[in-house]
Amino acid sequence: MSKTIYVLNGPNLNLLGKRQPDIYGRETMADVEALCVAEAKKHGFAIRYHQSNREYELIDWIHEARENAAGIVINAGAFTHTSIAILDALNAYDGPVIEVHISNVHKREEFRHHSFISARADGVIVGCGTQGYAFGIARIAALHGQ
Ligand code: DQA
Repeated sequence: MSKTIYVLNGPNLNLLGKRQPDIYGRETMADVEALCVAEAKKHGFAIRYHQSNREYELIDWIHEARENAAGIVINAGAFTHTSIAILDALNAYDGPVIEVHISNVHKREEFRHHSFISARADGVIVGCGTQGYAFGIARIAALHGQ
């Protein structure tokens, strides 16, 4: 069994900490990566951590995960609400998928209420801030009995 959990982040999340901090908080992507590494380590897993503003890169990493990943934690940003292509890629992956959103998308604009990814996700964590990533990792570890 692979001991690597993929953590994938979509568009604009590179600006975390600077972008709308009232909604997304002050932590940066580097802070979130460190949090993910620490959480995974507790459960005996490693992390492969990526962010991209390009849909195809996220899709390529999901394809790579087919061979290499114990699970995927994904915050696809706004692609969540638009991308059938990311849904299709996730449907081609057999392991656990946990969808994360830093903000509570259900408290926000109507267009954020629908997620294509939720049709595939085994779990969905919204509105828990960046802690949601740690919950997602812990859940994947638990699904593997770790
Ligand atoms: C987000 C919510 C999305 O609606 C938004 O487009 C993002 C971030 C979140 O983490 O709360 O970019 O996924």
